[in-house]
Amino acid sequence: ARKLIIAIDGPAGAGKSTVARHLATRFGLLNLETGAMYRAFARKAIEQGVNPDDAEALTALASSTAIELEPTSAGNRVLLDGQDVTATLRDKEVTQAASRVSVHPPIRNWMVSLQRAMGQHGGVVMEGRDIGTVVFPDADLKFFLDASPEARSHRRYLETPQAATHAALHEELRKRDERDRNRAESPLRPAPDAIVIDSTEMTLDEMLRAIEETVAARV
Ligand code: C5P
Repeated sequence: ARKLIIAIDGPAGAGKSTVARHLATRFGLLNLETGAMYRAFARKAIEQGVNPDDAEALTALASSTAIELEPTSAGNRVLLDGQDVTATLRDKEVTQAASRVSVHPPIRNWMVSLQRAMGQHGGVVMEGRDIGTVVFPDADLKFFLDASPEARSHRRYLETPQAATHAALHEELRKRDERDRNRAESPLRPAPDAIVIDSTEMTLDEMLRAIEETVAARV
């Protein structure tokens, strides 16, 4: 039988990465951060001067692009055409472009097929926006993590105080969420069978405990 697949979806700043990393360590799973793949592709589009809203040009670019994720205990390494670009994927320009390139159906289809291949044997916790709805609709466990926009931007701010003002971060998260929730192709929403956890009034630790107990009951 296939090994366990855990899907973790939700908006930015809801704690997905922390939870995914924790579960991977605790249960011996590979942690795959699909957002990093969209970020790597966005970075390439920027480098090549391709407009992140131009579906046709992006599709052409995708056909000559190789993206690989290498899970490590400290997070994912991302290889773009064989080069490690991990350290460059968090800046504002890449973040905004990733949000734009990810609306286009041909780009999503490409990413989804890469992600299915990576998870086909199971033993993974995969994190993103459409894992439980599209990539692995038959995942063994699905979590949809949410929190109020204020709580999410505050957490991001604490993680990256040097990056921006709190107001700018809040605005960026709001725009990215809106795009994720309103796109025609695989919009951000909980799968019907997802366990929805709103952590607005919880500490990260409380959320981790709750999720860990649910997973432990299944393995
Ligand atoms: O999760 P992260 O913030 O790194 O993702 C960057 C962007 O990639 C998100 O804003 C979202 O638009 C997109 N994304 C997506 N589907 C995924 C993962 C990320 O559309 N499975």
